[in-house]
Amino acid sequence: MIDIRSDTVTKPSKEMLEHIITAEVGDDEYKEDPTVNELEEFTASLLGFEAGLFVTSGLMGNQISLLNHTNPGDEVITTSDSHIQNYEHGAASFLSRIQFRNVQHKDGNLDLEDLETQINKSLYHKPNISTVAIENTHLSSGGSIIPFEDIQKLYEYTSSNNLKLHVDGARVWHAILEKDTQSNYGEYCDSLTFCFSKGLGAPIGSMLLGTKSFINDSREYRKKIGGGMRQVGIIASAAKFALINRENLLDDHKKARKIYDELTINKDKINGLDSVVYKGTNMVLLEFVSLENSDKFLKRLLENKIKAGYLREKVVRFVLHKDIDSKNIEKLIKAIQSFS
Ligand SMILES: Cc1ncc(COP(=O)(O)O)c(C=O)c1O
Repeated sequence: MIDIRSDTVTKPSKEMLEHIITAEVGDDEYKEDPTVNELEEFTASLLGFEAGLFVTSGLMGNQISLLNHTNPGDEVITTSDSHIQNYEHGAASFLSRIQFRNVQHKDGNLDLEDLETQINKSLYHKPNISTVAIENTHLSSGGSIIPFEDIQKLYEYTSSNNLKLHVDGARVWHAILEKDTQSNYGEYCDSLTFCFSKGLGAPIGSMLLGTKSFINDSREYRKKIGGGMRQVGIIASAAKFALINRENLLDDHKKARKIYDELTINKDKINGLDSVVYKGTNMVLLEFVSLENSDKFLKRLLENKIKAGYLREKVVRFVLHKDIDSKNIEKLIKAIQSFS
């Protein structure tokens, strides 16, 4: 079966498993797991932060950031389609007791004028706006990259307006590698989290990054929500292996590009396919005219032993990852070419 529902479906390679077996471990709750400590320091230095905290998931990293940056009743500015607002099981209102305010954006890149308007709206009645949260790459638009210069401009605005800037960088390495841009995010945001368990291909784990004091507080929050861990050098070693091999993500971009090109050529063979979207990273979106069309398309793929899924209603997504090889790509392309 070719599984392109998500980049979270990968399996650890033999080499990764060897790293897991040979990892040095200790009790991370006492900060005594050398592999975790090394990973936190290494990652912080790669992205220009003072410190890091190994957490179980992207959701945990995002939500601990909100717990840190907000007080109950605050508003967090984001986009209407953001992961932190829509796909985290209501955790932000459950844990931090905040609400969201949406600003206009293009592919996840906030419109600074609208941000200013939203902040100045309703002088007498508005809640305290404490935080801005962006997503790079931006999932809902198909893995779009927010240019680093725009993050720098946004940070100039947030820092001079007493707002915290959080980056949900679940797939930030895709953005950094594709654009070959600076990676010193630590100078241009207050916190960032990224996932080892997506395209990077580790079985579990995310890194939360910030200042030393932010990370000390985050460690407390992690404990409070049951995220304290013990001999987790075994998973940190897989994460480190994945991170060291991060350049491989660029192969996934090439695979996505190839599929996009084929889909564009064969668009008319797919019933009800309205448009194909590729934003330069590891995803391809197929926007259908009706749900009936998209359901039928997914069914036909499945008959060809290809599993894909929905990003949202009528929008199918293909997510490329390390376990999809060139033979799988050929098979997928052949299947699409055979549709009529
Ligand atoms: C943009 C984005 N942020 C956060 C997350 C949450 O990550 P996790 O599933 O590890 O909690 C995801 C997961 O798909 C994501 O795509």
